[in-house]
Amino acid sequence: MKILALETTCDETAAAIVASGDSAGSPVDVLGSVVASQTELHLEFKGVVPEIAARAHVERILPVIHRTVEQAGIGLAELDAVAVANTPGLSGSLMVGLMAAKSLCLALEKPLIAVNHLQAHIYACQLDTSDPIYPSIGMIVSGGHSHLYRFDDAIHAHYLGGTIDDAAGEAFDKVAAMLGLGYPGGPEVSRVAENGDETAWSFPRSFIHEERLDFSFSGLKTAVRYAIAGPGKTSLEGVVLDSRQVADLAASFQAAVVDCLVSKAMQALRQTGLTQLCVGGGVAANRRFRQQLEQACQEAQVRLHIAPLKLCTDNAVMGAIAIERYRAGLFESLDLDIAPGLVRVPR
Ligand code: KG4
Ligand code: ZN
Repeated sequence: MKILALETTCDETAAAIVASGDSAGSPVDVLGSVVASQTELHLEFKGVVPEIAARAHVERILPVIHRTVEQAGIGLAELDAVAVANTPGLSGSLMVGLMAAKSLCLALEKPLIAVNHLQAHIYACQLDTSDPIYPSIGMIVSGGHSHLYRFDDAIHAHYLGGTIDDAAGEAFDKVAAMLGLGYPGGPEVSRVAENGDETAWSFPRSFIHEERLDFSFSGLKTAVRYAIAGPGKTSLEGVVLDSRQVADLAASFQAAVVDCLVSKAMQALRQTGLTQLCVGGGVAANRRFRQQLEQACQEAQVRLHIAPLKLCTDNAVMGAIAIERYRAGLFESLDLDIAPGLVRVPR
């Protein structure tokens, strides 16, 4: 079975052709995969501008599909289905991918499969192992999401908790901007934090002693702002930090985020009695986070699956979850809509 998967939920235009696997080690063979990043377009705004993202998808979607098909060395007629991430994400961006997928389905007379982007981030873990990763706690930590789900299988998930304000990646991006670092902020904060003292500042860790499985990073972000501004001040205007101060602030901030994420993941495991943890999304690329997770899971005798580094940030290969939906007979009609904000009830 061969499926073309499209991903345009945010600011990466991506396509992949995946096949139900014959090769040892992974249940999926990747025949072609292309990701066109828009980072350079959003750089000056230090965040994704939805209008710019949608228009860039319009320009890039057909060349990206074309290159993916070329890589795979197959004809479009050989496809069994076309899959597309239609939730959650930015409206304009989602619409470009969905309309491209529908057009292909119409022209090729192939079935349409809907991909939930959050479920796909977790499915990225399955692409690294032949062992079943479900049932498990699924943690998605990206630029737009910090959520915990109980996954019964690839498709059936129950929302356990998540951020009540900023997502973890969003907090990394905003703190990076305050520290005068580049965009996207996560990799930059992580890089300078390597030389910093994470005990230099004691930043808040919201809800850490409570049973609720939620996150809040906006107080942490404000605390970093006050720390940069200096005693009695709130404005960052005219503040100049030396590299040691930037490194200490970055390390202390990163430690606070990682503590919150790791402790809530472990709490979710304890509360549900599950013994597998799957982690995906851009922030899962963070080295400190991966180390802390590995240590905590080892101590709790929990099997940890973290998405392979190249599949942490947005890509279409994780759309291979469409193979599971194909097998379950879950196809969509051509009046399928986008669902930009759907995070609580993945289908
Ligand atoms: O999953 P993703 O590519 O896009 C969304 O679906 O949002 O995640 C992007 C986010 C950005 O906020 C970026 O700063 C963050 O992931 N990120 C990181 C790292 N690499 C990417 N955050 C912390 N440490 C990293 N190494
Ligand atoms: Zn994502």
